Amino acid sequence: MSIFTRAQRLSPGWLLLPLRVFLGVTFTFAGVQKLANPAFFRASNPGSIQAQLNAFAPRSPLHVILGIAAHQPILTGLVIALGELAVGIGTLLGLYSRLAAIGGLSISTLLFLSVSFHTNPYYTGSDIVFMFAWIPFVIIGSGGVLTMHNFLAARGHGEMNPSIAGVDFTTIRHACGNYDHGSCRAMDAAPCSMVKCPVINREVSVDDSNRASAIRKSSRYNSERRSFIVRAGGLGIAGGAALSVGGAGAILGRAIGASNSSANASDALASSTLSTQKPPSNPAPTSTTTTTSVTATSDSTSTPTTVVSSGVANPKGTVVGPASAVPLGKVASFVDPKSGQPAYVLHPKETDFVAFSAICPHAGCTVQYSVGNIFVCPCHGSQFDATNGDVIQGPAITGLTRIPIVEGTNGQLYADG
Ligand code: FES
Repeated sequence: MSIFTRAQRLSPGWLLLPLRVFLGVTFTFAGVQKLANPAFFRASNPGSIQAQLNAFAPRSPLHVILGIAAHQPILTGLVIALGELAVGIGTLLGLYSRLAAIGGLSISTLLFLSVSFHTNPYYTGSDIVFMFAWIPFVIIGSGGVLTMHNFLAARGHGEMNPSIAGVDFTTIRHACGNYDHGSCRAMDAAPCSMVKCPVINREVSVDDSNRASAIRKSSRYNSERRSFIVRAGGLGIAGGAALSVGGAGAILGRAIGASNSSANASDALASSTLSTQKPPSNPAPTSTTTTTSVTATSDSTSTPTTVVSSGVANPKGTVVGPASAVPLGKVASFVDPKSGQPAYVLHPKETDFVAFSAICPHAGCTVQYSVGNIFVCPCHGSQFDATNGDVIQGPAITGLTRIPIVEGTNGQLYADG
């Protein structure tokens, strides 16, 4: 037999509980994931908040706001991560549920207008779904179901304001010291009557009036105090939970990041422009071109741009960094001088360099280089072959844009020539 009545089970709060848990867990995880990822705050990384803001700004209706935010990337990243964490924990615990839902709706709307605004078809973007998922909680909050707020309020009520229970007159007579077999000693043995009972129907004197007023004041004071304690307790629990979860995630993530970076000490930057990424587990050759003097091409149907040397010290294009910053088998990120967008250059073979825009053609997120020699889009999961930029897995339907890249005889890499 269920411990809940049918009416309880069909109440909006219970019906929406699975969705509430999903949203709470997702936002908490998203906040922790950002705090735990050192690369998110490192401007040189293509997946950093700064790179993403720069990538989204030109195509977003919020381009002015994103442009301003890109000048304060650390602050923006922290606000987003902590905002997601607060929304997630508030939703899970049922603390300030409506406020948390308004926060969730705002963040989702912001992400929709910046990250998934150009997603096509529109329903493959998750942010628009999150936007609508928050709306029921903006309207009803948590519905009073499994909330820390109710728990704290009940505790405060039990401790500070004992509940009033109805007592029938027979019980009062038996408990009353003046009751004497149907007569009331306090009324000179007059018949005992609820209407004339001196205990429960005394005329209100001035003293009584003052006392009643004092009791009302005390009751109001207790109520306000209780409310304050509930709010303060709620804030304390939410803050403590956010700090614990966020702090633990950040420490763990940074510890892992630190060990990775020491493991990849050989990837040390050789340039302030290029920054190397983790090498592929199985780097594959990207081209059969063997020429040592090839002019870069932007023809996307041709073999990926592969060059050892242009044969001249200063070939066409813009220097993006020394070729030595991309050791054999490594990947480095750089900012494409032509578009100002993040890009990758790979060095899969002794004689080859290839470069791709890091902007996902699906909706403009910044792809990440990953094991298996692929680029993965964190937004909707598209995957691209790092050898040629082709789509391995949608929803993207076109590959990454190739960027012509040339190594000059001076050892520098020239892009967009
Ligand atoms: Fe949607 Fe990349 S932006 S898969």
